[in-house]
Amino acid sequence: MTISDPKTRILELSAEINRHNQLYHGFDAPEITDAAFDALNVELNQLLEEFPELANLANLSIGAKAENTFEEVSHSSKMLSLDNAFDAEELAAWNERIDKQLGDAVGRYVCELKIDGVACSLRYESGALVQAATRGNGVVGEDITLNVKTINSIPDRLPSGVPDVVEVRGEIYMDIATFEALNEAQTEAGLPRYANPRNTAAGSLRQKNPEITRSRNLSFWAYQLGAGADEANLTSHSQALDWLDSLGFPVNPERKYVASISEVDEYIAWGLQNRHDLDYEIDGVVVKVDDYTKQEALGATARAPRWAIAFKYPPEEKETKLLDIHVSIGRTGKATPFAVLEPVFVGGSTVQMATLHNQDQVALKGVRPGDTVVVRKAGDVIPEVLRPVESLRPTSSKPWHFPTECTSCGEPLRRPEGEANNYCENFVCPAQQQARIEYFTSRTAMDIEGFGESTVALFLKEELISDVADIYFMDWEAVGNLAGFGSISVSNLQTSIEKSKEKPLASLLVGFGIRHLGPSGATALAEHFGHLDAIAHAKDTEIAEVEGVGAKIGESVEAFFATEVAKDLIRRLREAGVNLEGPEQSSLRQTLEGKSIVISGTVEGYSRTGAQDAVKERGGKSPGSVSNKTDYVVLGENPGASKISKAEELGIPVISSDKFQQLLDTGTVSTPR
Ligand code: IVH
Repeated sequence: MTISDPKTRILELSAEINRHNQLYHGFDAPEITDAAFDALNVELNQLLEEFPELANLANLSIGAKAENTFEEVSHSSKMLSLDNAFDAEELAAWNERIDKQLGDAVGRYVCELKIDGVACSLRYESGALVQAATRGNGVVGEDITLNVKTINSIPDRLPSGVPDVVEVRGEIYMDIATFEALNEAQTEAGLPRYANPRNTAAGSLRQKNPEITRSRNLSFWAYQLGAGADEANLTSHSQALDWLDSLGFPVNPERKYVASISEVDEYIAWGLQNRHDLDYEIDGVVVKVDDYTKQEALGATARAPRWAIAFKYPPEEKETKLLDIHVSIGRTGKATPFAVLEPVFVGGSTVQMATLHNQDQVALKGVRPGDTVVVRKAGDVIPEVLRPVESLRPTSSKPWHFPTECTSCGEPLRRPEGEANNYCENFVCPAQQQARIEYFTSRTAMDIEGFGESTVALFLKEELISDVADIYFMDWEAVGNLAGFGSISVSNLQTSIEKSKEKPLASLLVGFGIRHLGPSGATALAEHFGHLDAIAHAKDTEIAEVEGVGAKIGESVEAFFATEVAKDLIRRLREAGVNLEGPEQSSLRQTLEGKSIVISGTVEGYSRTGAQDAVKERGGKSPGSVSNKTDYVVLGENPGASKISKAEELGIPVISSDKFQQLLDTGTVSTPR
């Protein structure tokens, strides 16, 4: 690599930064990761520090204008950006700088989460929302009033008595649950998946039809008050935030007012620890000097205020090599392509595999083995390959084609009309058998402890089992002769198999792994028909009529029970004494009808979604986040701090997990905690 002279490099970097700014702000189509973009800025700033005389060469625009037809609006005061700090030293240096400039201690700092969304300025006149604008280049933005009016949490009117003009700035964002649901729908429809919530929020705001914006279910956090502060006699940022809260604006509850930079450090560490418990994305923390007089004394540069700084967290997107694309066969025969990656640390963990969803998604993403790809992982979210970096594509690379034959048994793969997935239809395909037995024995279904992936593989290899019914007719002497199976583990295995015979019919139905039939559909069928034989003899139309079950499930349930394989399974399960009867009405009383229970952390004895299913099976709702509609929060192991603090703030009872059963049985708990 040749190193260009500082002049050329400054020109190159400015052009690159402008281009990426345009792609990001103007077209919501970034080519590089945020971290790569930050690195360009860091390099440019270092050069400018070293060669201040060349500053005039760096002709940067804050965010170039997109080609669209929204009206332009001038901001009444410039919408500034923020300077960044990437580590504790940079933060300390900022703090020293402002202490020195003030000739006094800062006093109080306001710590806020840095929401990864789209900045928006809202203007209220005589209490009515008259204008909403994007930041644009900081001086002139776009008028997105009609679209912003579809966002439920942004008040249309303010309470009486507010100043004539109130200007509120904040971040419009898409919460993670909304983003995931939208992407799920895209995949089902064979459409490209959205890259991340931020870009999707930006795209949703730039719709010409406000009804599309409405359907995107966007949210807002207010983080700054412009006009109106003086008239409302506010003298600090914390007062302004509390005031905005009282006017009905959503103000982020995770904000903290602290008195020293060491407490700021603690807040930053807390945010990093807890960022993935939030149901929205953050990319750092914003630290602001609280006192307005001190803010004024510090002033601003052309780009950013001196009284605030953004502490940036490590990126959730990284580049890595796509080594290969493999296809796995699931328990229903579904063929899922996945990326084998050069291990990369992103979003808090090392990622070396990522689903590519289905045939169409691989084509839409246009990735090829050998590509450098952008990978994204935000917290618990399943890692995703976003796109190839086409400029780094090896010249020898070839497009990847979806296999026409099952990668496990070699039988042809078939893609049903109108579906996005390919399936292996060979019921005795080894990959399907392995996945089906693992699923049958999992907590979601028959809950047979000791049947992990490797045990199932071993039992299949040793021909001790070939399907789920064989579990009940194992040759225990042969098992005892296997390495690693002493008398204690054999007897534990026998006990848990015995116990599984008493599981409810719904668990058995789930365990069959019938295409499209999940726990809630299985529960509905078990309750409605009361016996496996009745379900096995029902017509697809009768099944489809059961509440919560549709035609798709009706067809696949009927098709499953019509097979000789299913008939033989049922015969042997009956012979083994496995429970085939539906629940007595009382065991699944709808105790939680109309109630909303949030589970935080894992509840002993349940899988991650199992506790939520238990609530739903009793008529309740179990959303992923706490709101004022929540009746109880159940405190499991490793709970999310934000859910608990939100519950406390809203006065919602938090109950310990040992009260969970009582809640399921009775719909209430006598003494919370
Ligand atoms: S304050 C003059 N507070 O981050 C101060 N900005 O990188 C203006 N952002 O343009 C910004 N969360 O879009 C502020 N709590 C927060 C924020 C926040 C997210 C965004 C905002 C800003 C960008 C700067």
